[in-house]
Amino acid sequence: MKARIALLPGDGIGPEVTSAAAQALAAAARRFGHTFELRTFPIGGVAIRQAGEPLPTTTLAACLESDAVLLGAVGDPAFDGHEPARRPEAALLALRRELGVYANLRPARVYAGLEGSGPLKPEVVAGVDLLIVRELTGGLYYGTPRGVAADGSSAHNTLRYTRAEIERVATRAFEEARRRRRRLTSVDKANVLETSRLWRSVVTETGRAYPDVSLDHMYVDNCAMQLVRSPARFDVIVTENMFGDILSDEAGAVVGSLGLLPSASIGSGPGLFEPVHGAAPDLSGRDVANPIGAIASAAMLLRYGLKLTDEADALDAAIVEAIGTGARTEDLTGAADPAAGPTRPGAPVLSCSQMASAITERIHSFRAVSSISAL
Ligand code: IPM
Ligand code: MN
Repeated sequence: MKARIALLPGDGIGPEVTSAAAQALAAAARRFGHTFELRTFPIGGVAIRQAGEPLPTTTLAACLESDAVLLGAVGDPAFDGHEPARRPEAALLALRRELGVYANLRPARVYAGLEGSGPLKPEVVAGVDLLIVRELTGGLYYGTPRGVAADGSSAHNTLRYTRAEIERVATRAFEEARRRRRRLTSVDKANVLETSRLWRSVVTETGRAYPDVSLDHMYVDNCAMQLVRSPARFDVIVTENMFGDILSDEAGAVVGSLGLLPSASIGSGPGLFEPVHGAAPDLSGRDVANPIGAIASAAMLLRYGLKLTDEADALDAAIVEAIGTGARTEDLTGAADPAAGPTRPGAPVLSCSQMASAITERIHSFRAVSSISAL
């Protein structure tokens, strides 16, 4: 297969983790005999500096013409004082809207060996394997009117959802649930918000076509608590844009580190694949970031974007194996003080590039069905 992949490294640790993901894609191309044409374009703060705007038209055009887009991260404290439309984040919101990627799939599962890496007790974390389906192109992020009063005395945003917006993302969530354990939890704030009441009723109506999937509804505050109290109870969670943003960071901590989480944003055109974490300026340029979220996003790109299942399995298996042999970046050591070293005595803490190599090596030698049972 020949595929065109647009690479958008972006800001902070974005370039480091994107380069790791690109290595993994190149390894998969070699192992399976594909040609992936990877082309790099600026986005976010880097693009503001280079081209004066967060999403240059050349970048957007390249994404629309590609088969899939792989993004690192956007965000740069240098632009904190700028109005929302001139910040690096604006590029990502515009790109999601232009690509029409309304369904954002954010899987979070605990890798064998990492049960003790996060702040929760290993017995609470055991067996966690959930998928957050976040609505991505509506809600508070996009609603108008929005703005700040001329005298600065107030500011406002608009939360609006249409039936059609809810129905299409709910349909996607039911379909995903069907491929998993057939349990869907719809998360809202229907005790307070009109948009949530509409959300709840449209999700319920959509569910009539999926009698094999069990549906329940949960308020978002309760869901935030249940995620730390008994995260293994969840299969698929479907929720609106802002709630999904918040709950997915929480899910990162549940499974050990936000640095592990990948995402796939799906619409009708090219998909957008990006780790859930941000630009992490404090880690930037030090080669200490965890590249697993980005590499697992590349796996989702292969699986959902290019429909290359064995290739995606190869990347996922390589991650499982690397972790299984003790490979750990700093965020996975479970140590409050990273300088204290890894929880597994004797195992060195790997840099971002060392972790990328540990995973990539295993892709070269991947044999279909070899280690996939370990998943
Ligand atoms: C995410 C990020 C983005 C979001 C930011 C960078 C705009 O936090 O993908 O979760 O809020 O969607
Ligand atoms: Mn977020």
